[in-house]
Amino acid sequence: MEIDVTADDVGRIKADVLAVPVFEGDPTRDPIVKQLDLALGGILGQVIREEQFTGKSSTGVQLHTHGRIAASRVHVVGLGKKTREPGAALRNGATRAARSAQSAKLGTLAAVVPSAAPDAALAARALAEGMLLGTYRFDRYLTGDRKPKTALGAARVVVVPKGKGARRVPAAVQAAVSQAQIVAQAVNAVRDLTNEPPNELNPRTFAEWVTKLAKTHKVGVTILDKAGIEKAGMKLLMAVNQGAVEEPRFIHLRYSPAKPRRKIALVGKGITFDSGGLCLKPARSMIDMKCDMSGAAVTCSTVLAAAQLGLPVEIHGIAALTENMPSGRAYRPGDVFGSLDGKTVEIINTDAEGRLVLADALAYAAKLQPDVIVDHATLTGACVVALGAQTAGVFGSDRRTAERYVRSAGTAGESMWHMPLSEELREGLKSEVADIKNIGDQFGGAISAALFLREFVGDRPWIHVDIAGPAFAEKAFGLYPKGATGFGVLTLLEFLSSGA
Ligand code: BES
Ligand code: MN
Ligand code: ZN
Repeated sequence: MEIDVTADDVGRIKADVLAVPVFEGDPTRDPIVKQLDLALGGILGQVIREEQFTGKSSTGVQLHTHGRIAASRVHVVGLGKKTREPGAALRNGATRAARSAQSAKLGTLAAVVPSAAPDAALAARALAEGMLLGTYRFDRYLTGDRKPKTALGAARVVVVPKGKGARRVPAAVQAAVSQAQIVAQAVNAVRDLTNEPPNELNPRTFAEWVTKLAKTHKVGVTILDKAGIEKAGMKLLMAVNQGAVEEPRFIHLRYSPAKPRRKIALVGKGITFDSGGLCLKPARSMIDMKCDMSGAAVTCSTVLAAAQLGLPVEIHGIAALTENMPSGRAYRPGDVFGSLDGKTVEIINTDAEGRLVLADALAYAAKLQPDVIVDHATLTGACVVALGAQTAGVFGSDRRTAERYVRSAGTAGESMWHMPLSEELREGLKSEVADIKNIGDQFGGAISAALFLREFVGDRPWIHVDIAGPAFAEKAFGLYPKGATGFGVLTLLEFLSSGA
Protein backbone atom coordinates (compact mmCIF):
# COMPACT_ATOMS: atom_id res chain seq x y z
CA MET A 1 0.00 0.00 0.00
CA GLU A 2 1.21 3.47 -0.93
CA ILE A 3 0.84 6.38 1.46
CA ASP A 4 0.45 9.91 0.27
CA VAL A 5 0.59 13.23 2.08
CA THR A 6 -1.88 16.08 1.74
CA ALA A 7 -1.90 19.58 3.17
CA ASP A 8 -5.51 20.66 3.37
CA ASP A 9 -8.31 21.64 5.74
CA VAL A 10 -9.59 18.59 7.60
CA GLY A 11 -13.13 19.18 6.37
CA ARG A 12 -12.04 18.75 2.75
CA ILE A 13 -10.23 15.42 3.08
CA LYS A 14 -12.02 12.66 1.17
CA ALA A 15 -11.76 9.28 2.91
CA ASP A 16 -13.92 6.50 4.34
CA VAL A 17 -12.45 7.40 7.75
CA LEU A 18 -10.61 10.44 8.99
CA ALA A 19 -8.51 9.48 12.02
CA VAL A 20 -7.84 12.33 14.46
CA PRO A 21 -5.29 11.41 17.13
CA VAL A 22 -5.56 13.37 20.40
CA PHE A 23 -3.50 13.38 23.58
CA GLU A 24 -5.14 12.89 26.95
CA GLY A 25 -6.96 15.91 28.36
CA ASP A 26 -10.11 17.60 27.10
CA PRO A 27 -10.35 16.53 23.44
CA THR A 28 -13.03 19.14 22.73
CA ARG A 29 -10.32 21.79 23.15
CA ASP A 30 -8.06 20.24 20.50
CA PRO A 31 -7.94 22.73 17.57
CA ILE A 32 -8.56 20.04 14.93
CA VAL A 33 -11.45 18.51 16.89
CA LYS A 34 -12.90 22.03 17.32
CA GLN A 35 -12.71 22.70 13.61
CA LEU A 36 -14.44 19.40 12.79
CA ASP A 37 -17.03 19.93 15.51
CA LEU A 38 -17.95 23.27 13.97
CA ALA A 39 -18.29 21.70 10.52
CA LEU A 40 -20.40 18.88 11.99
CA GLY A 41 -22.79 21.17 13.79
CA GLY A 42 -21.59 20.31 17.29
CA ILE A 43 -22.24 16.56 17.23
CA LEU A 44 -18.55 15.58 17.55
CA GLY A 45 -18.21 17.42 20.86
CA GLN A 46 -21.50 15.94 21.96
CA VAL A 47 -20.40 12.36 21.25
CA ILE A 48 -17.08 12.96 23.01
CA ARG A 49 -18.90 14.20 26.12
CA GLU A 50 -21.53 11.44 25.99
CA GLU A 51 -18.85 8.78 25.75
CA GLN A 52 -16.77 10.52 28.45
CA PHE A 53 -13.84 10.20 26.05
CA THR A 54 -10.70 11.86 27.40
CA GLY A 55 -8.03 10.65 24.98
CA LYS A 56 -6.74 7.76 27.11
CA SER A 57 -4.63 5.33 25.09
CA SER A 58 -6.52 2.38 23.57
CA THR A 59 -9.80 4.32 23.56
CA GLY A 60 -11.56 6.26 20.81
CA VAL A 61 -14.89 7.48 19.45
CA GLN A 62 -16.28 7.14 15.95
CA LEU A 63 -19.17 8.75 14.17
CA HIS A 64 -20.68 9.07 10.70
CA THR A 65 -20.64 12.51 9.12
CA HIS A 66 -23.62 12.18 6.74
CA GLY A 67 -22.07 14.44 4.11
CA ARG A 68 -21.33 17.38 6.39
CA ILE A 69 -17.61 17.03 5.63
CA ALA A 70 -15.79 15.23 2.80
CA ALA A 71 -14.81 12.22 4.95
CA SER A 72 -17.60 9.69 5.65
CA ARG A 73 -16.52 8.94 9.23
CA VAL A 74 -14.43 10.55 11.95
CA HIS A 75 -12.43 8.37 14.35
CA VAL A 76 -10.96 10.31 17.27
CA VAL A 77 -8.09 8.16 18.56
CA GLY A 78 -6.82 8.41 22.14
CA LEU A 79 -3.01 8.55 22.48
CA GLY A 80 -2.64 8.75 26.26
CA LYS A 81 -0.60 11.40 28.05
CA LYS A 82 1.49 13.72 25.89
CA THR A 83 5.24 13.02 26.20
CA ARG A 84 8.37 14.60 24.76
CA GLU A 85 8.74 11.71 22.31
CA PRO A 86 5.18 10.96 21.15
CA GLY A 87 6.31 8.86 18.14
CA ALA A 88 5.45 5.46 19.59
CA ALA A 89 2.04 6.64 20.85
CA LEU A 90 1.18 8.08 17.43
CA ARG A 91 2.32 4.94 15.68
CA ASN A 92 0.16 2.82 17.99
CA GLY A 93 -2.83 5.10 17.48
CA ALA A 94 -2.52 4.88 13.70
CA THR A 95 -2.22 1.10 13.93
CA ARG A 96 -5.49 0.95 15.87
CA ALA A 97 -7.24 3.24 13.40
CA ALA A 98 -6.00 1.13 10.47
CA ARG A 99 -7.10 -2.14 12.07
CA SER A 100 -10.49 -0.78 12.88
CA ALA A 101 -10.92 0.53 9.31
CA GLN A 102 -9.77 -2.75 7.84
CA SER A 103 -12.06 -4.87 10.00
CA ALA A 104 -14.97 -2.61 9.01
CA LYS A 105 -13.97 -3.41 5.38
CA LEU A 106 -13.35 0.25 4.55
CA GLY A 107 -11.17 1.26 1.63
CA THR A 108 -9.47 4.54 2.51
CA LEU A 109 -8.08 6.05 5.69
CA ALA A 110 -6.59 9.48 6.36
CA ALA A 111 -4.76 10.32 9.59
CA VAL A 112 -4.26 13.90 10.74
CA VAL A 113 -0.98 15.10 12.25
CA PRO A 114 -2.02 16.56 15.63
CA SER A 115 -1.32 20.26 16.03
CA ALA A 116 0.10 19.44 19.49
CA ALA A 117 2.86 17.19 18.04
CA PRO A 118 6.29 18.80 18.69
CA ASP A 119 7.69 17.74 15.29
CA ALA A 120 5.30 17.43 12.34
CA ALA A 121 7.72 15.34 10.24
CA LEU A 122 8.35 12.82 13.02
CA ALA A 123 4.63 12.65 13.74
CA ALA A 124 3.80 12.10 10.06
CA ARG A 125 6.35 9.33 9.91
CA ALA A 126 4.88 7.63 12.97
CA LEU A 127 1.34 7.83 11.60
CA ALA A 128 2.42 6.41 8.23
CA GLU A 129 4.34 3.57 9.89
CA GLY A 130 1.40 2.79 12.15
CA MET A 131 -1.05 2.56 9.24
CA LEU A 132 1.29 0.36 7.19
CA LEU A 133 2.01 -1.94 10.14
CA GLY A 134 -1.62 -2.09 11.27
CA THR A 135 -2.99 -3.41 7.99
CA TYR A 136 -0.52 -6.31 7.80
CA ARG A 137 -2.09 -9.71 7.13
CA PHE A 138 -0.53 -13.02 6.17
CA ASP A 139 -3.06 -14.51 3.76
CA ARG A 140 -0.87 -16.11 1.09
CA TYR A 141 -2.10 -19.58 1.88
CA LEU A 142 -5.82 -18.84 2.20
CA THR A 143 -8.13 -19.77 -0.67
CA GLY A 144 -11.79 -19.33 -1.63
CA ASP A 145 -13.95 -17.81 1.09
CA ARG A 146 -11.04 -17.74 3.49
CA LYS A 147 -9.15 -15.26 1.32
CA PRO A 148 -10.02 -11.70 2.48
CA LYS A 149 -11.71 -9.85 -0.36
CA THR A 150 -11.21 -6.35 0.96
CA ALA A 151 -8.16 -4.56 2.21
CA LEU A 152 -7.47 -0.99 3.10
CA GLY A 153 -6.49 0.28 -0.35
CA ALA A 154 -5.20 3.78 0.33
CA ALA A 155 -3.84 5.62 3.31
CA ARG A 156 -3.04 9.29 3.61
CA VAL A 157 -1.33 11.53 6.10
CA VAL A 158 -2.87 14.96 6.48
CA VAL A 159 -1.00 18.06 7.61
CA VAL A 160 -3.20 20.99 8.47
CA PRO A 161 -1.87 24.07 6.66
CA LYS A 162 -0.52 26.75 8.97
CA GLY A 163 -1.62 29.87 7.09
CA LYS A 164 -4.52 30.32 4.68
CA GLY A 165 -3.63 29.02 1.24
CA ALA A 166 -0.45 27.23 2.42
CA ARG A 167 -1.41 23.99 0.69
CA ARG A 168 2.13 22.76 0.08
CA VAL A 169 3.36 19.68 1.96
CA PRO A 170 6.64 20.60 3.74
CA ALA A 171 9.59 18.72 2.22
CA ALA A 172 10.57 17.32 5.62
CA VAL A 173 7.13 15.77 6.04
CA GLN A 174 7.24 14.27 2.56
CA ALA A 175 10.67 12.79 3.25
CA ALA A 176 9.55 11.43 6.62
CA VAL A 177 6.66 9.57 5.01
CA SER A 178 9.00 8.04 2.41
CA GLN A 179 11.19 6.84 5.29
CA ALA A 180 8.12 5.38 6.96
CA GLN A 181 7.44 3.25 3.89
CA ILE A 182 10.95 1.79 4.05
CA VAL A 183 10.77 1.12 7.78
CA ALA A 184 7.31 -0.47 7.67
CA GLN A 185 8.30 -2.59 4.69
CA ALA A 186 11.30 -3.86 6.67
CA VAL A 187 9.12 -4.89 9.62
CA ASN A 188 6.48 -6.46 7.39
CA ALA A 189 9.15 -8.39 5.48
CA VAL A 190 10.32 -9.97 8.75
CA ARG A 191 6.69 -10.87 9.49
CA ASP A 192 6.28 -12.47 6.05
CA LEU A 193 9.49 -14.48 6.28
CA THR A 194 8.70 -15.68 9.80
CA ASN A 195 5.07 -16.57 9.06
CA GLU A 196 6.11 -18.50 5.94
CA PRO A 197 5.71 -22.24 6.70
CA PRO A 198 8.96 -24.14 7.29
CA ASN A 199 8.40 -26.50 4.34
CA GLU A 200 8.60 -23.40 2.13
CA LEU A 201 11.14 -21.24 3.96
CA ASN A 202 14.39 -23.15 4.44
CA PRO A 203 18.00 -21.91 4.47
CA ARG A 204 18.19 -22.03 0.67
CA THR A 205 14.95 -20.13 -0.01
CA PHE A 206 15.78 -17.61 2.75
CA ALA A 207 19.15 -16.91 1.09
CA GLU A 208 17.49 -16.58 -2.32
CA TRP A 209 15.10 -13.97 -0.90
CA VAL A 210 18.00 -11.99 0.62
CA THR A 211 20.10 -12.18 -2.55
CA LYS A 212 17.28 -10.82 -4.70
CA LEU A 213 16.62 -7.83 -2.45
CA ALA A 214 20.32 -7.14 -1.88
CA LYS A 215 20.78 -6.84 -5.65
CA THR A 216 17.77 -4.52 -5.94
CA HIS A 217 19.08 -2.20 -3.24
CA LYS A 218 22.78 -2.42 -4.18
CA VAL A 219 23.81 -4.10 -0.97
CA GLY A 220 26.85 -6.38 -1.19
CA VAL A 221 25.98 -10.03 -0.60
CA THR A 222 28.00 -13.21 -0.10
CA ILE A 223 26.23 -16.53 0.45
CA LEU A 224 28.16 -19.60 1.58
CA ASP A 225 26.60 -22.95 0.75
CA LYS A 226 27.35 -26.18 2.63
CA ALA A 227 30.74 -26.67 1.00
CA GLY A 228 31.65 -23.04 1.63
CA ILE A 229 30.62 -23.22 5.28
CA GLU A 230 32.66 -26.39 5.78
CA LYS A 231 35.66 -24.84 4.03
CA ALA A 232 35.40 -21.69 6.16
CA GLY A 233 35.65 -23.84 9.28
CA MET A 234 32.23 -23.17 10.79
CA LYS A 235 32.17 -26.50 12.56
CA LEU A 236 29.33 -25.65 14.94
CA LEU A 237 26.97 -24.57 12.14
CA MET A 238 27.90 -27.81 10.34
CA ALA A 239 27.21 -29.83 13.52
CA VAL A 240 23.68 -28.45 13.94
CA ASN A 241 23.01 -29.08 10.25
CA GLN A 242 24.09 -32.75 10.38
CA GLY A 243 20.59 -34.12 11.00
CA ALA A 244 18.91 -31.98 8.34
CA VAL A 245 18.27 -32.92 4.73
CA GLU A 246 18.13 -29.23 3.77
CA GLU A 247 21.54 -27.62 3.23
CA PRO A 248 22.70 -24.79 5.53
CA ARG A 249 23.47 -21.27 4.32
CA PHE A 250 25.65 -18.47 5.70
CA ILE A 251 24.82 -14.89 4.70
CA HIS A 252 27.07 -11.83 4.75
CA LEU A 253 25.48 -8.53 3.66
CA ARG A 254 27.52 -5.31 3.34
CA TYR A 255 26.26 -1.76 3.20
CA SER A 256 28.65 1.17 3.26
CA PRO A 257 27.82 4.88 2.77
CA ALA A 258 30.42 7.33 1.40
CA LYS A 259 31.97 8.37 4.72
CA PRO A 260 30.85 5.90 7.36
CA ARG A 261 30.92 7.15 10.94
CA ARG A 262 31.06 3.70 12.51
CA LYS A 263 31.26 0.05 11.53
CA ILE A 264 28.51 -2.15 12.92
CA ALA A 265 28.05 -5.92 12.62
CA LEU A 266 24.54 -7.34 12.98
CA VAL A 267 24.24 -11.07 13.59
CA GLY A 268 21.11 -13.26 13.49
CA LYS A 269 20.07 -16.77 14.51
CA GLY A 270 18.50 -18.46 11.50
CA ILE A 271 17.03 -21.81 12.52
CA THR A 272 14.30 -22.25 9.90
CA PHE A 273 12.81 -25.03 12.02
CA ASP A 274 13.82 -26.10 15.53
CA SER A 275 12.59 -29.60 16.34
CA GLY A 276 15.13 -29.80 19.16
CA GLY A 277 17.14 -32.41 17.24
CA LEU A 278 17.72 -35.72 19.08
CA CYS A 279 16.69 -33.92 22.29
CA LEU A 280 13.32 -33.66 20.58
CA LYS A 281 10.88 -31.03 21.77
CA PRO A 282 7.42 -32.13 22.92
CA ALA A 283 4.75 -31.41 20.25
CA ARG A 284 3.36 -28.41 22.13
CA SER A 285 6.74 -26.64 22.23
CA MET A 286 7.52 -27.46 18.58
CA ILE A 287 4.39 -25.94 17.08
CA ASP A 288 5.69 -22.40 16.51
CA MET A 289 9.34 -23.29 15.92
CA LYS A 290 9.29 -21.94 12.36
CA CYS A 291 9.80 -18.62 14.17
CA ASP A 292 13.35 -19.59 15.15
CA MET A 293 14.81 -17.70 12.18
CA SER A 294 13.39 -14.32 13.22
CA GLY A 295 16.78 -13.07 14.42
CA ALA A 296 18.22 -13.68 10.94
CA ALA A 297 15.21 -12.00 9.34
CA VAL A 298 15.51 -8.94 11.62
CA THR A 299 19.23 -8.73 10.80
CA CYS A 300 18.93 -8.98 7.01
CA SER A 301 15.81 -6.85 6.71
CA THR A 302 17.41 -4.09 8.79
CA VAL A 303 20.55 -3.95 6.62
CA LEU A 304 18.36 -3.67 3.50
CA ALA A 305 16.33 -0.87 5.11
CA ALA A 306 19.45 0.95 6.35
CA ALA A 307 20.77 0.98 2.77
CA GLN A 308 17.51 2.43 1.43
CA LEU A 309 17.50 5.05 4.18
CA GLY A 310 21.15 5.87 3.49
CA LEU A 311 22.14 5.66 7.16
CA PRO A 312 25.61 7.09 7.90
CA VAL A 313 27.15 3.84 9.23
CA GLU A 314 28.86 0.87 7.60
CA ILE A 315 26.73 -2.20 8.35
CA HIS A 316 27.51 -5.90 8.01
CA GLY A 317 24.58 -8.30 8.25
CA ILE A 318 25.51 -11.85 9.16
CA ALA A 319 23.11 -14.77 9.44
CA ALA A 320 23.66 -18.48 10.11
CA LEU A 321 20.88 -20.63 8.67
CA THR A 322 20.02 -24.27 9.16
CA GLU A 323 17.24 -26.55 10.36
CA ASN A 324 17.69 -28.44 13.63
CA MET A 325 16.44 -31.96 12.88
CA PRO A 326 16.77 -35.48 14.33
CA SER A 327 18.08 -38.32 12.12
CA GLY A 328 20.63 -41.12 12.09
CA ARG A 329 23.22 -38.52 11.16
CA ALA A 330 22.12 -35.88 13.67
CA TYR A 331 24.62 -34.51 16.20
CA ARG A 332 24.31 -36.08 19.65
CA PRO A 333 24.66 -35.20 23.31
CA GLY A 334 28.27 -36.08 24.16
CA ASP A 335 29.67 -35.04 20.78
CA VAL A 336 32.58 -32.57 20.82
CA PHE A 337 33.13 -30.08 17.99
CA GLY A 338 35.63 -27.36 17.19
CA SER A 339 34.42 -23.94 16.03
CA LEU A 340 35.39 -21.10 13.72
CA ASP A 341 36.88 -19.37 16.75
CA GLY A 342 38.98 -22.45 17.62
CA LYS A 343 37.35 -23.26 20.97
CA THR A 344 35.94 -26.77 21.44
CA VAL A 345 32.34 -27.34 22.57
CA GLU A 346 30.81 -30.38 24.28
CA ILE A 347 27.17 -30.90 23.29
CA ILE A 348 24.92 -31.65 26.28
CA ASN A 349 21.58 -30.76 24.75
CA THR A 350 20.92 -30.66 20.99
CA ASP A 351 18.03 -28.25 21.61
CA ALA A 352 20.54 -25.56 22.64
CA GLU A 353 21.45 -25.18 18.95
CA GLY A 354 20.98 -21.43 18.53
CA ARG A 355 24.04 -20.52 20.58
CA LEU A 356 26.11 -22.96 18.47
CA VAL A 357 25.29 -21.44 15.10
CA LEU A 358 25.61 -17.96 16.64
CA ALA A 359 29.04 -18.82 18.05
CA ASP A 360 30.40 -19.29 14.53
CA ALA A 361 28.53 -16.24 13.22
CA LEU A 362 29.80 -14.06 16.08
CA ALA A 363 33.39 -15.25 15.60
CA TYR A 364 33.05 -14.37 11.91
CA ALA A 365 31.66 -10.92 12.84
CA ALA A 366 34.44 -10.28 15.39
CA LYS A 367 37.06 -10.86 12.65
CA LEU A 368 35.65 -7.85 10.79
CA GLN A 369 36.74 -5.70 13.77
CA PRO A 370 33.48 -3.73 14.00
CA ASP A 371 32.91 -0.98 16.59
CA VAL A 372 29.98 -2.96 17.95
CA ILE A 373 28.27 -6.30 17.31
CA VAL A 374 24.50 -6.62 17.83
CA ASP A 375 22.93 -10.09 17.68
CA HIS A 376 19.24 -11.00 17.61
CA ALA A 377 18.07 -14.50 18.49
CA THR A 378 14.99 -16.40 19.63
CA LEU A 379 17.43 -18.00 22.01
CA THR A 380 15.82 -19.21 25.24
CA GLY A 381 12.45 -20.12 26.73
CA ALA A 382 14.04 -18.96 30.00
CA CYS A 383 14.02 -15.36 28.75
CA VAL A 384 10.27 -15.63 28.17
CA VAL A 385 9.85 -16.98 31.72
CA ALA A 386 11.90 -14.07 33.09
CA LEU A 387 10.37 -11.15 31.17
CA GLY A 388 7.07 -12.35 29.72
CA ALA A 389 6.18 -12.75 26.06
CA GLN A 390 6.26 -9.05 25.10
CA THR A 391 9.71 -7.99 26.32
CA ALA A 392 13.16 -8.80 24.91
CA GLY A 393 16.21 -9.33 27.14
CA VAL A 394 19.25 -7.18 26.33
CA PHE A 395 22.71 -8.38 27.38
CA GLY A 396 25.86 -6.38 26.79
CA SER A 397 29.59 -6.77 27.17
CA ASP A 398 29.51 -3.35 28.82
CA ARG A 399 26.76 -1.63 30.77
CA ARG A 400 26.79 1.64 28.83
CA THR A 401 26.27 0.14 25.38
CA ALA A 402 23.47 -2.08 26.69
CA GLU A 403 21.79 0.87 28.39
CA ARG A 404 22.07 2.89 25.20
CA TYR A 405 20.39 0.06 23.34
CA VAL A 406 17.53 -0.14 25.86
CA ARG A 407 17.06 3.65 25.49
CA SER A 408 16.78 3.24 21.70
CA ALA A 409 14.10 0.62 22.36
CA GLY A 410 12.23 3.13 24.54
CA THR A 411 12.26 5.72 21.76
CA ALA A 412 11.19 3.11 19.21
CA GLY A 413 8.36 1.96 21.48
CA GLU A 414 9.60 -1.61 21.87
CA SER A 415 9.80 -3.22 25.30
CA MET A 416 13.35 -4.34 26.18
CA TRP A 417 15.04 -4.93 29.51
CA HIS A 418 18.72 -4.88 30.46
CA MET A 419 19.73 -8.30 31.84
CA PRO A 420 22.88 -9.13 33.81
CA LEU A 421 25.77 -11.33 32.64
CA SER A 422 26.08 -12.86 36.12
CA GLU A 423 29.66 -14.14 36.39
CA GLU A 424 28.77 -16.86 38.91
CA LEU A 425 26.85 -18.71 36.18
CA ARG A 426 29.97 -19.03 33.97
CA GLU A 427 31.10 -21.91 36.23
CA GLY A 428 28.17 -24.04 35.02
CA LEU A 429 29.43 -23.97 31.43
CA LYS A 430 32.71 -25.73 32.33
CA SER A 431 33.26 -29.06 30.60
CA GLU A 432 35.58 -31.96 31.53
CA VAL A 433 36.34 -32.92 27.95
CA ALA A 434 36.09 -29.66 25.98
CA ASP A 435 36.65 -25.92 26.47
CA ILE A 436 32.97 -25.31 27.16
CA LYS A 437 29.57 -27.09 27.34
CA ASN A 438 26.54 -25.88 25.38
CA ILE A 439 24.26 -25.64 28.42
CA GLY A 440 24.80 -24.46 31.99
CA ASP A 441 22.97 -24.47 35.33
CA GLN A 442 19.30 -25.36 35.73
CA PHE A 443 18.34 -21.76 36.54
CA GLY A 444 19.17 -18.51 34.75
CA GLY A 445 19.03 -20.12 31.31
CA ALA A 446 18.88 -16.86 29.36
CA ILE A 447 22.00 -15.62 31.17
CA SER A 448 23.96 -18.88 30.66
CA ALA A 449 23.15 -18.73 26.97
CA ALA A 450 24.43 -15.14 26.78
CA LEU A 451 27.59 -16.09 28.70
CA PHE A 452 28.16 -18.88 26.17
CA LEU A 453 27.88 -16.37 23.29
CA ARG A 454 30.29 -13.97 25.02
CA GLU A 455 33.06 -16.54 24.58
CA PHE A 456 32.98 -15.98 20.82
CA VAL A 457 32.94 -12.18 20.41
CA GLY A 458 36.60 -11.62 21.29
CA ASP A 459 37.27 -8.11 22.57
CA ARG A 460 34.52 -6.43 20.52
CA PRO A 461 31.78 -4.43 22.26
CA TRP A 462 28.69 -6.62 21.89
CA ILE A 463 24.95 -6.59 22.50
CA HIS A 464 22.77 -9.68 22.53
CA VAL A 465 18.99 -9.33 22.19
CA ASP A 466 16.98 -12.42 23.18
CA ILE A 467 13.68 -12.07 21.29
CA ALA A 468 12.26 -15.56 22.10
CA GLY A 469 9.18 -13.94 23.67
CA PRO A 470 8.15 -11.05 21.42
CA ALA A 471 9.23 -12.46 18.00
CA PHE A 472 6.09 -14.56 17.66
CA ALA A 473 2.87 -13.65 19.45
CA GLU A 474 0.13 -15.94 20.72
CA LYS A 475 -2.14 -12.89 20.76
CA ALA A 476 -1.78 -9.43 19.21
CA PHE A 477 -0.15 -6.73 21.35
CA GLY A 478 0.46 -3.04 20.61
CA LEU A 479 1.65 -2.70 17.03
CA TYR A 480 2.10 -6.40 16.72
CA PRO A 481 -0.32 -8.86 15.14
CA LYS A 482 -0.81 -12.47 16.24
CA GLY A 483 1.95 -14.65 14.80
CA ALA A 484 5.18 -13.12 13.52
CA THR A 485 5.68 -9.56 14.82
CA GLY A 486 8.87 -8.24 13.22
CA PHE A 487 9.87 -7.14 16.73
CA GLY A 488 13.38 -5.69 16.94
CA VAL A 489 13.64 -3.87 13.61
CA LEU A 490 12.31 -0.55 14.94
CA THR A 491 14.82 -0.46 17.80
CA LEU A 492 17.73 -1.53 15.64
CA LEU A 493 16.96 1.19 13.06
CA GLU A 494 16.61 3.76 15.84
CA PHE A 495 19.97 2.66 17.30
CA LEU A 496 21.68 2.81 13.88
CA SER A 497 20.08 6.18 12.97
CA SER A 498 21.31 7.74 16.18
CA GLY A 499 24.85 6.90 15.04
CA ALA A 500 24.99 3.54 16.90
N1 BES B 1 14.45 -21.84 19.86
C1 BES B 1 14.48 -22.21 21.22
C2 BES B 1 14.07 -21.10 22.19
C3 BES B 1 12.64 -20.59 22.09
C4 BES B 1 11.70 -20.96 23.01
C5 BES B 1 12.29 -19.68 21.11
C6 BES B 1 10.42 -20.46 22.94
C7 BES B 1 10.99 -19.18 21.03
C8 BES B 1 10.06 -19.56 21.96
C9 BES B 1 15.91 -22.63 21.61
O1 BES B 1 16.66 -23.21 20.59
C10 BES B 1 15.78 -23.69 22.66
O2 BES B 1 15.27 -24.73 22.37
N2 BES B 1 16.25 -23.38 23.86
C11 BES B 1 16.19 -24.29 24.94
C12 BES B 1 17.53 -24.25 25.64
C13 BES B 1 17.74 -25.36 26.64
C14 BES B 1 17.84 -26.69 25.95
C15 BES B 1 18.99 -25.07 27.42
C16 BES B 1 15.07 -23.84 25.87
O3 BES B 1 14.84 -22.64 26.01
O4 BES B 1 14.40 -24.70 26.43
MN1 MN C 1 16.36 -25.30 20.40
ZN1 ZN D 1 16.16 -22.65 18.70
